[in-house]
Amino acid sequence: MKKEIRFRLNGYEVSAEVEAHRVLVEVLREDFQLTGVKVGCGQGECGACTVLVDGIPVDSCLYPAFEIADKTVTTIEGLVGEGNRLHPVQAAFVAHGAVQCGFCSPGMILSAKALLDETPHPDEAEIRRGISGNLCRCTGYLQIVDAIRRAAEEGAA
Ligand code: FES
Ligand code: FES
Repeated sequence: MKKEIRFRLNGYEVSAEVEAHRVLVEVLREDFQLTGVKVGCGQGECGACTVLVDGIPVDSCLYPAFEIADKTVTTIEGLVGEGNRLHPVQAAFVAHGAVQCGFCSPGMILSAKALLDETPHPDEAEIRRGISGNLCRCTGYLQIVDAIRRAAEEGAA
């Protein structure tokens, strides 16, 4: 069964025809070519597929596409500002060496953004809790936590 859904994607009103079995990450990557969202485990374990739905981080590999109707989705592509200006959290990741292979970075950055929107000045425990659903196979956690702390200091929220 196919159904047309409408939702807001990175600031634009969009629509898509989706089948009941599809998950959000497939719609984003295949229908909208938003390949910043990654697929790692495909089972809700690694967080590589994290996107924001109404500002909340979700695993898009498990999120039924049907349920996105009338909601707001933000992917890593949606964080970039005018003139390709990086979001402060993205800039902090680059400046403080928090990107190695980069596979986890989109999901990690979106989780960090959601954290800072909710808690503008998190302590280290709160930062670690905020990214606890995101695994970095390059194990660059020290730099990632440091980048999020620096982004908070610079007023990223
Ligand atoms: Fe979705 Fe790993 S790909 S949690
Ligand atoms: Fe490689 Fe995190 S930078 S997985």
